[in-house]
Amino acid sequence: MTAKQTYRIAAIPADGVGLEVVEAGRAVLDALAAASENRFAFEWQDFPWGSDFYAQHGKMMDEDGLEQLKEFDAIYFGAVGWPTVPDHVSLWGLRLRICQNFDQWANVRPVEFLPGIQSPLRKADDTDLNWVVVRENSEGEYAGLGGRNLSARGDGGEVAIQSALFTEVGCERIMRFAFDLARTRTVKKVSSVTKSNAQQYGMVLWDDVFKKVALDYPDVQTESVLVDAMAAKFVLHPEDLSVVVASNLNADILSDLGSALAGSLGLAASANLNPERRFPSMFEPVHGSAPDIAGKGICNPVGAIGSAALMLEHFGLLDEAKAVQRAIEDTTGNGIRTADVGGNATTAEVTAAIIESLAN
Ligand SMILES: NC(=O)c1ccc[n+]([C@@H]2O[C@H](COP(=O)([O-])OP(=O)(O)OC[C@H]3O[C@@H](n4cnc5c(N)ncnc54)[C@H](O)[C@@H]3O)[C@@H](O)[C@H]2O)c1
Repeated sequence: MTAKQTYRIAAIPADGVGLEVVEAGRAVLDALAAASENRFAFEWQDFPWGSDFYAQHGKMMDEDGLEQLKEFDAIYFGAVGWPTVPDHVSLWGLRLRICQNFDQWANVRPVEFLPGIQSPLRKADDTDLNWVVVRENSEGEYAGLGGRNLSARGDGGEVAIQSALFTEVGCERIMRFAFDLARTRTVKKVSSVTKSNAQQYGMVLWDDVFKKVALDYPDVQTESVLVDAMAAKFVLHPEDLSVVVASNLNADILSDLGSALAGSLGLAASANLNPERRFPSMFEPVHGSAPDIAGKGICNPVGAIGSAALMLEHFGLLDEAKAVQRAIEDTTGNGIRTADVGGNATTAEVTAAIIESLAN
């Protein structure tokens, strides 16, 4: 019998633990589909792109890779980067190529504190902590503008320029996204991360747009915090946070801090969204390829499985997304955890426990 709704997903595990966590997330989604009594199904296509592909073909993905991906309902991504390929080549050749060309301008990174997982924050023991980092994902410090050795000065005299790009349109759309998200949350507040004291052009434009957009959301509290102070606030007053909107680089750094505070980088999920749905959106854990533990079967699959839950939400399968989140909480709460969060379970054991919890 054909399923009522089939979602076509492009799987790009890419490198290192990316392969292990994508396998885990797929197993969870396939288990959900199998239990859905043909309401929905997932049709997967694998893409072998990544650093091995680069070794064979001299490029990170097929030349017409974006054309191939265009028709999918979503992309499920692992992690890219391996010591054999310079990181800027692997990142720009695959992940950023997809994010930027598919205008996935909103990168949503929830910071979730899970039961059974010890946080380095003392406060996490008795405070309900939960916030979302909204990362501007199309411009800012990752615009790729600049050059090296502009004046050909030779050895020891090289010059490099790396410029950040801030556009009013780019700032406004991510801020509206953050405010709209805040309206769906219990605490309706947006904290904007800035550095306008030092960066008097781009970040002052960022601040101006934030003030302008805030006028349209009088029901949402706001604050504007310098990035250095925000790093301290993540540690000292995280209970004040609900939605944190930040530029590409600032949000990247802060969300790693957030996931470390929640217990491990391996826990953090993310969605790279093209909110207009002109292109497929991409779902991936926040972490990288973790070469130090890759291939051992011990990496934490929770970030990737949480990203699969964000993909379900994107498809409108809201109950299923909640069920996956609950199954993750049951599993960590029952002490089934990988080594990065103090347990001794394998990737496969955590995944199996999540699937079992879904069935109950
Ligand atoms: N989105 C991406 O594809 C992405 C993001 C970050 C880094 N990278 C790339 O990954 C490579 C390694 O980078 P890195 O070491 O700076 O960052 P990383 O996230 O790969 O690893 C940092 C630390 O976190 C641990 N860790 C990461 N994921 C884990 C998981 N699922 N379970 C348990 N522990 C986990 C690692 O073991 C390591 O100690 C580099 O090539 C980098 O460019 C890719």
